[in-house]
Amino acid sequence: MAFSDPEAGELQFDYLLVDAFIVDLVSARALSSALEMGVVDLFLDHGRLTVAELQQRVTFEPSCIKLFLDLLIHAGVIAGDNEGYVLTPRFMKVLPYRDLLVAKLDFAHFAAHDFIDSFSFMISDVRAFRKRAGMFRLFNYGNSTVQTPENHQRTMKWMRITTVLTKYEAQACFSKHSFSGYRHMLDIGGNSGEFALQACRNYPELRVTVFDLPVVCDIGQQHLAKEPESGRITFTRGNALVEVLPAGFDLVTFKSVLHDWPEREALMFLDKACRALQKGGTILVFERGAFETGASGLPYSLIPMVLFSHTFRTPEWYCDYLAAHGFVSISVQWVRLDVPFMLVTAVKE
Ligand SMILES: C[S@@+](CC[C@H](N)C(=O)[O-])C[C@H]1O[C@@H](n2cnc3c(N)ncnc32)[C@H](O)[C@@H]1O
Repeated sequence: MAFSDPEAGELQFDYLLVDAFIVDLVSARALSSALEMGVVDLFLDHGRLTVAELQQRVTFEPSCIKLFLDLLIHAGVIAGDNEGYVLTPRFMKVLPYRDLLVAKLDFAHFAAHDFIDSFSFMISDVRAFRKRAGMFRLFNYGNSTVQTPENHQRTMKWMRITTVLTKYEAQACFSKHSFSGYRHMLDIGGNSGEFALQACRNYPELRVTVFDLPVVCDIGQQHLAKEPESGRITFTRGNALVEVLPAGFDLVTFKSVLHDWPEREALMFLDKACRALQKGGTILVFERGAFETGASGLPYSLIPMVLFSHTFRTPEWYCDYLAAHGFVSISVQWVRLDVPFMLVTAVKE
């Protein structure tokens, strides 16, 4: 299945429009600067601004401002001429999803270094690639087991990205599978509790236990502290590979977790989930699947997913496990977000 092309129309979720502004490196970098230097906010405050008005408010090298504005015009962020510039209506439409836009820009810029430095390793020796790539140092879960100021900072860095992506991706999961019949969900690798939060917002009867590594849970608790739903969300700290998980849940979820692990560990996670589920309960796996390049090539926004592409499994892999473990009503659905996501559900007999 191809990735979702915002230029091609028919997007199922409006937030996917952000990807149209992360198509190529040059435009994406110019947009990041406009956001971080406060230029986008200036346009929001003032509407139309001339070059002179911009120069009064932001420090620019005089020789660079024309280049910068031209890049933003090319990127579709602003339009105008010597009379003044404005944000385009198309760009205004993505500003409600500014947190996602910024997170995806940052993630793409981070991943671009690995893509440029190590792509030959990626396609020839994935083990060597994983050792070289900054992406796999960023997502080093070994830094999230013991609380230290350094581990807190390192863990925050990747949690900021996973949290924002999940805030939006969760809606796609609920659009395909209603959680309304469930009362007590266990989210293994539930991170900052963002998936739990979105689930509790949508389903007022639901309570959620998030199981994750200690530093992740500490940050998650802070993340949810002010949310009215936080009273329905409990964090349980531990290593799901070695510890006995709490039990008695009617829903156990893995969102974007199992792809991180080789087969042996992924099976261990699934075994733990089976034991945590009560009879008649549902296991749910919501994961990215393989994506095709398509006629227009891959956009810059997908470079992070290119780096992870060796990790995505087929739904059959999950279905085989579930069938072998006596699960019934096994179902596979797909939803096209920036890349195709698979939703696998099954019921424990
Ligand atoms: C890629 S993140 C996905 C997080 C979240 N489910 C989401 O979609 O936003 C993988 C999660 O698995 C957690 N994790 C990794 N190893 C774990 C372990 N041994 N036990 C429990 N959680 C673990 C990580 O801390 C992280 O929160």
